[in-house]
Amino acid sequence: MKIVCIGAGYVGGPTMAMIARECPDITVTVVDIDEERILAWQSDELPIYEPGLKEVVDESLGRNLFFSTDVGKGIEEADIIFVSVNTPTKTFGHGSGRAADLQYLEKTARNILAHARSDKIIVEKSTVPVRTADAMNRILNSRNSDCSFEVLSNPEFLAEGSAVKDLENPDRILIGGHDTEAGRKAMQTLVDIYARWVPKERIITTNVWSSELSKLAANALLAQRVSSINSLSALCEATGADVGEVASAVGRDSRIGPRFLNASVGFGGSCFRKDILNLVYLCESYGLHELAEYWHQVVKINDYQQDRFVGSVISNMFNTISGKRIALFGFAFKADTGDTRESPAIRIAKQLAEERANVVISDPRALDNARIDLGDLGDRVTYEEDPYRAAEEAHALAIMTEWSCYKELDYQRIFDSMLKPAFAFDGRRILDHQKLYEMGFNVYSIGKAPLTHLDA
Ligand code: NAD
Ligand code: UGA
Repeated sequence: MKIVCIGAGYVGGPTMAMIARECPDITVTVVDIDEERILAWQSDELPIYEPGLKEVVDESLGRNLFFSTDVGKGIEEADIIFVSVNTPTKTFGHGSGRAADLQYLEKTARNILAHARSDKIIVEKSTVPVRTADAMNRILNSRNSDCSFEVLSNPEFLAEGSAVKDLENPDRILIGGHDTEAGRKAMQTLVDIYARWVPKERIITTNVWSSELSKLAANALLAQRVSSINSLSALCEATGADVGEVASAVGRDSRIGPRFLNASVGFGGSCFRKDILNLVYLCESYGLHELAEYWHQVVKINDYQQDRFVGSVISNMFNTISGKRIALFGFAFKADTGDTRESPAIRIAKQLAEERANVVISDPRALDNARIDLGDLGDRVTYEEDPYRAAEEAHALAIMTEWSCYKELDYQRIFDSMLKPAFAFDGRRILDHQKLYEMGFNVYSIGKAPLTHLDA
């Protein structure tokens, strides 16, 4: 059996590396139009940073895992075609800023039609609006062809930073297909692949539309939890409650559960925002305006949380940060990844720079991406890999990403090198606030009362 995956990104690369490792008898080829990316997958420096991924790739690379720019050949030879191209938010025309931009997906479908010489199972791995499989089907069957195509939905639920663990031991594998003989046969083929390493009871089969919608629903519910706890964090700051204690208390209710209740500067990443906006757009297009407004609020609270954080920096630093050096610790949207797509640090750094602060960005993995994201700010922003140097002569430091290395820094050394009064803003609630306060910092953390020497 031969598999090709179109799109060698954060999803295509790791998922195919896992299939190749677990199914040594299946030839897996990952193709992409981006030559640089394909070369990087074959090199010692993978195009994405993901703990444990290099080892997984190395196990199969050149044996039954291949990377190539020859998309046509990949399609021609494959029995199963995974489609894992990007589906970003549309930035132009109808539905701009909300709808999913499906141009890459559509190009892929047309490419499949152009190169297929035998029957294919097409697997939607990308996150798509409900009923996209219908559009794929129409394109694939738009001209007389001897080949038959069966479109399945198989959304990916991995999270960045834990992709390898998530792929090795997924909570569930979701496969949606049509309730026809061909549809059931295609689903069984895919079930059999995953069943090589995933327990059968974790492989769920549904109809195509449920599968497509479940992916958007999962991301919407996860993001909603973050916005819910973040909304409560503002109330905690106003009342003296501690959002960590509140999260821990409510999370003990087994119906609520403890995970995904970390208050923060807000959620980032390439998907939460885009998938919720996609859901909002879908609701609107079905005339379900109340639903659209309900889900839109999850994104609005996320923006509010970031703006609120900047507001707190400005007001607590005597209402002016002009000319002040502010070190941002972390730029990635979460720890253990170099990915900065939709990172809260982007919006926050831009707002601080607009206030004419001298912003210094530090991050163990994401500085290259940060330079691209903040390119238009020119020399109002500088980059410093070493957090100690970033904080030297700074008026304030602010935690943007929960990298564990930031928990272990020598904060006395940092305090000694900073201008006074020294401010610490913890946007991820990872520091020992009492200890920092005792060193002399004025400490402001998301979701709890500040610890400050200024009123004394
Ligand atoms: P990505 O941007 O990292 O990768 C997509 C790749 O597709 C790019 O390398 C691009 O060059 C390639 N591509 C685009 N059009 C192509 C074409 N016509 N032919 C060949 N290659 C083409 O995106 P990603 O983060 O891997 O996400 C892919 C999909 O998976 C999205 O729909 C996303 O919502 C979903 N998803 C992402 C994650 C994640 O953690 N990043 C998790 C689950 C689901
Ligand atoms: C998320 C989902 O968790 C995956 O299941 C999904 O496959 C993926 O989106 C996708 O579709 O792309 P990811 O964005 O990689 O994965 O990372 P998460 O761990 O979900 O974190 C998202 C954001 O929320 C991060 O900025 C994180 O810091 C933030 N977050 C998360 C919080 O602020 N608090 C929390 O309690 C949890």
